[in-house]
Amino acid sequence: MTNIPIFKLEEFWKKYEFSAPYLLCPSDAETWLLKDIVAMADPESKSLWDNLSLGYTESPGLPALRKEISQLYDSLEADHILTTAGAEEGIYCAMHSLIAQGDHVVIVSPSYQSLETLPQVLGAKISFIHLQSANQWKLSFDQIQSVWRTTTKLLILVCPHNPSGTLIEPDVYEKMIALARKTGAYIFCDEVYRFLELDETKRLPAIADGYERGISLNVMTKSFGLPGLRIGWLASRDVDLLQKVNSYKMYTSICNSAPSEILALIALKSKESILKRNREIVLQNVKLLDEFVKRHSDSIRWVRPEGGTIAFLELLLPISIDEFTEQLVEKAGVLIMPGTIFDCPGNFFRVGYGRRNMPDVLNRFEQFLITYENLYKK
Ligand SMILES: Cc1ncc(COP(=O)(O)O)c(C=O)c1O
Repeated sequence: MTNIPIFKLEEFWKKYEFSAPYLLCPSDAETWLLKDIVAMADPESKSLWDNLSLGYTESPGLPALRKEISQLYDSLEADHILTTAGAEEGIYCAMHSLIAQGDHVVIVSPSYQSLETLPQVLGAKISFIHLQSANQWKLSFDQIQSVWRTTTKLLILVCPHNPSGTLIEPDVYEKMIALARKTGAYIFCDEVYRFLELDETKRLPAIADGYERGISLNVMTKSFGLPGLRIGWLASRDVDLLQKVNSYKMYTSICNSAPSEILALIALKSKESILKRNREIVLQNVKLLDEFVKRHSDSIRWVRPEGGTIAFLELLLPISIDEFTEQLVEKAGVLIMPGTIFDCPGNFFRVGYGRRNMPDVLNRFEQFLITYENLYKK
């Protein structure tokens, strides 16, 4: 039996998500109520919802949903989309489809854990590119070039980045594609935080639009705020690859949940208003974080995020981030995510700013932080 490493981030959520009263690190935008989504339905989708039969669904995804998803991209059609159970099934099936034992894979780290562990489990030869806070968590082209081989099969990255919320610079994006094209490598870009760039003019083209061997991963979970639907997708112009990924899906979920497909369709038809509300929450919360970081510049430092719902802060007090996290949740009921979950050295922690209750939770966090600041002053 293959040994699969413990999924540290998801184990952390399993332990705390439904027991800690004040979550300061969720990465999904404010969750919508079912009734609010149903109320957004146009007559055609409402009829699909009212007359929904709870049978199996089409394995690649409901055609109308795949068509609606394709409209999130500049150059794609429904055939370029394969729906998956959340983003996670997309990662699992894509990695199995793309990687064979011994393949050379380049991974930009820190990342979402399965993007790092699955290539290892599949026997890839891996070159990691470690992003650094000193470089604003930015990916440089030199870093990519220095590990690139003519045989490199796949480059894996997350943009907007998890956990820092930074974006790739446009010139690095272009050069990265040119390099991959030269040697025929795939680029897998986890874009689950796309559409919530703080400055919308900085949104990069999806990799599936920008590169013929690009695979974009996205989901209803994060920017749209609908994790309970468990509807994600892979987008690529390489339909043969999508077919192969679909073969893996037949061993995992087979097809998506029928109600979720219709609800995702309704939500995507109303994407402007869904994203508008989520953007408003995010922009207000980032302003509060700006002020918070300024107020506590002796004990907290950050690289301001550029997109998504998460930021990576650094605790400058002489206490380990793991210990601080434990004390915080135990004494104040507030949950942050320590950087050790991302195997990230140093005293970093992730904060989520996509939820409506963030101001209250941040305030509780601040009170706790002040007691520690005073402690270390003495
Ligand atoms: C970067 C990234 N990719 C993928 C996922 C998995 O998303 P889902 O829960 O929708 O499967 C997450 C969830 O935290 C994530 O942060």
